[in-house]
Amino acid sequence: MSVIGPFGLSVRDRTLEADTQAGLTAVEEGLLEATKSDVPFITEAAQHLVRAGGKRFRPLLVLLAAQFGDPYAPGVVPSAVVVELTHLATLYHDDVMDEAEVRRGVSSANARWGNSVAVLTGDFLFARASHVLADLGPEAVRVQAEAFERLVTGQILETAGPRGRDPIEHYLDVLAGKTGSLIAVSGRFGAMMSGADESIVNILTQYGERLGMAFQLADDVLDIASDSHESGKTPGTDLREGIATLPVLHLRAQAEATGAPEDRELCELLAGDLTDDARHAEVLRRLRAHPALEQARQDTLRYAAEARSMLAPLPEGPAKSALEGLCDAVAHRAG
Ligand code: IPE
Ligand code: IPE
Ligand code: MG
Ligand code: MG
Repeated sequence: MSVIGPFGLSVRDRTLEADTQAGLTAVEEGLLEATKSDVPFITEAAQHLVRAGGKRFRPLLVLLAAQFGDPYAPGVVPSAVVVELTHLATLYHDDVMDEAEVRRGVSSANARWGNSVAVLTGDFLFARASHVLADLGPEAVRVQAEAFERLVTGQILETAGPRGRDPIEHYLDVLAGKTGSLIAVSGRFGAMMSGADESIVNILTQYGERLGMAFQLADDVLDIASDSHESGKTPGTDLREGIATLPVLHLRAQAEATGAPEDRELCELLAGDLTDDARHAEVLRRLRAHPALEQARQDTLRYAAEARSMLAPLPEGPAKSALEGLCDAVAHRAG
């Protein structure tokens, strides 16, 4: 059993291990190449988060999905570079929106150089992703464009809030858009670029969408439950920004249903100014102990299990086992 890449996926099969390791190394080279500019400062800003690390979850999924066709096909590694570059660009923008100071264990670009540089570096990364994508053909460009539209729509919907809709339905739509979309494309690109059958491309797209939902749900649980050492981010960032993720939505629903005074009190605390450090710490402490957090964890496990079950029609083998392992690893992250 070997552990592959920064996400730490366990793989038993030697050939799969070698293919995936080689693929991830090639992706790193591709990322550094694609983020070079003639202007040294742009290179520094663009490579800031590339060099800081990250789980490379999306490229890993591309590489595993490519095992259902020819994993050495020429489009596989560049498509993995495209999804990671797109993801990276959204992180630069997301940290501006969320006023996050720490990302991948280092200062966010906005904390280090200010919002303008962070936004423009994100744009630069999108431009470079498009450049790599152009060589993969019009179908790949269309797939990426549709996913990118969904991603941005998810971020906008999150910013706009539910506006009278059911908050949990709204939240799940946000998740599908901002995270499910690009993880679905990762499964799709790997299968598509390797020349896998259309039916397999479809299964891996739907699997990626579900897995992406589980992945973001786990991230939202971790925003409350983890410390920054584990996540490389500042815990409670969503709370501080007033973004209600599933644990908070469950809490509100429970408070409304039972009217329990301690739940109502926590809801009131949540509605107050969470940029106040003492209040923020108090809310975080109480949420960590609240059953609503456990309920969100159970939802995460359910989504991960659903993603896993979507793999059933795929041919048995090391790649399928690895994709099942990815679901288990995401479920495990949620605790
Ligand atoms: C962070 O993504 C944003 C989410 C969609 C949860 P990742 O958790 O994949 O971030 P990195 O790439 O490892 O930094
Ligand atoms: C990240 O959303 C999703 C995208 C970047 C599209 P979040 O704001 O929930 O993720 P983190 O917690 O900052 O990584
Ligand atoms: Mg964020
Ligand atoms: Mg955000």
